[in-house]
Amino acid sequence: MSLVFVEAIPYDSISSLLRKVAYGLATTCVLGTAVYIGYSVASPDNHSSKRYRNPELNDEIEKVVSSLKLNYEQLKHIMHCLEEEMNAGLSSETHKQATVKMFPSFVRHIPDGTERGQVLALDLGGTNFRVLSIKLRRNSHIELTSKIFLVPQSVMIGDGKRLFRHLAECLAEFMEKEHLSQSGICYPLGFTFSFPCKQESLASARLTTWTKGFSCAGVINEDVVKLLQDAIDEKGINVKCAALVNDTIGTLMACAYKEPATSIGLILGTGTNACYIEDLDKVGTWNGDHDEPKQVIINMEWGAFGDNGCLNHIRTKYDEEVDLSSINPGQQTFEKMISGMYMGEIVRLIILDLLQRELLFLGHRDTYGDYKTPIYNRGGFYTKFVSTVETDEGIKFSNTRRVLEDIGIRNPTFDDCVIVQHICRQVSKRAARLAGAGLAVLINRMGKPTVTIGVDGSLYRYHPRFKRNMERSMEGLVNKDLKFKFALSDDGSGKGAALVACVAAHNAPEVLTKHTREIINDKTSEENSD
Ligand code: BGC
Repeated sequence: MSLVFVEAIPYDSISSLLRKVAYGLATTCVLGTAVYIGYSVASPDNHSSKRYRNPELNDEIEKVVSSLKLNYEQLKHIMHCLEEEMNAGLSSETHKQATVKMFPSFVRHIPDGTERGQVLALDLGGTNFRVLSIKLRRNSHIELTSKIFLVPQSVMIGDGKRLFRHLAECLAEFMEKEHLSQSGICYPLGFTFSFPCKQESLASARLTTWTKGFSCAGVINEDVVKLLQDAIDEKGINVKCAALVNDTIGTLMACAYKEPATSIGLILGTGTNACYIEDLDKVGTWNGDHDEPKQVIINMEWGAFGDNGCLNHIRTKYDEEVDLSSINPGQQTFEKMISGMYMGEIVRLIILDLLQRELLFLGHRDTYGDYKTPIYNRGGFYTKFVSTVETDEGIKFSNTRRVLEDIGIRNPTFDDCVIVQHICRQVSKRAARLAGAGLAVLINRMGKPTVTIGVDGSLYRYHPRFKRNMERSMEGLVNKDLKFKFALSDDGSGKGAALVACVAAHNAPEVLTKHTREIINDKTSEENSD
């Protein structure tokens, strides 16, 4: 049996294997026995004759994998291009053609923990959406109840009116259950709508394009707050949408409520995006007042970075395939190289390519051409599998084996597992380095001595090394005198929308009824809680 592939894989993979072997040595005292036992456990004998790997195959695999690697110069170049695109998005002359839209959010104030009140929030950004009821108490204390509802696929790609009706129905159901539908009380609502929107005020925003698999008709260019409010009014519920925010803004706001140094909001989930605090004098597209504080949070919509071709030199044929088979070809280039909606599919396409070129799964000719197995089907390798595979340390590969069996590869060999893990690591490392380069641009641009990055999203939460890889790449890219740290936001996007809605309702009490003002000021509950 050959362990030759181990020599061709990079240092981090080798070192984790070596650590495991050393562990085996300590426990069994005989290195050879440990490796032999480990290896026999890892690869039962039943297909042994088919499983010899020619070392040249590994060179072919390494060629594929190295197309995913990004060196320091490439990352610096990407940072430079991103900053040019950001400036284009911020300038009124070039905004129209710019790919990175840099939408001003109309959120100017960072919460300071003194906000109070009871607010509802709707959080729509993927196949699930949440309704939340949030009580903002003293000392940044938040009480929250929420319910997750599903957005059926037919609604995601159906008529826009149906989507907003669905949201209003779920909101009504939630309010009924939480006893919030007493007559006369109009609750303010914060709407987290995580799609690119040109904001016209805090409570008015036009959708510019759908992303993440949504494509409801009749919504693009429309004011989504109005569409939601119409559906709410039609349903007869007493709720007033006071603010719309992107999930990045919600995340930044929720983190800043606890930690005022938060100046960046980041989402690494189904989609990816970032927002940050920008000086008003750098925002050429800003039409509002120039009062203090002379700053506004910018929703970058960085997922669209590269849509003008400026990232083509680092894209692989797998990225092109992912793009072509998506619902929005030519759009969201950066997002498609980073986010959870696409990562598993990139891995699947690489595995499939290697399988078809007979470089992988050599003992599994029986599955070749069995088009029912998930590996042959779009979406057949979930992004959560990438995380699962990467949690394996050492030579047993129990998680990797389980994942491979799930995608239709029975009894994978040790080499198969090593190669699949190597592919997953490189795809996720590339994503982490790209996101890290994007963040480095923001940190250097703001120039604050310390910055906290509020972050949320399943990729960040569940991938075992995404954060570490991102931090490592940023260490070389962020100016030496600037410090940064990540703060995971809990329920950030919903809470943040509630905070913004609460502040908005305070600032524009005329839009609300007397009862609502009492709710916002939280008179009764605050008194009761004391
Ligand atoms: C959307 C952004 C959103 C991001 C993360 C992207 O597809 O365009 O608005 O912030 O996903 O949810």
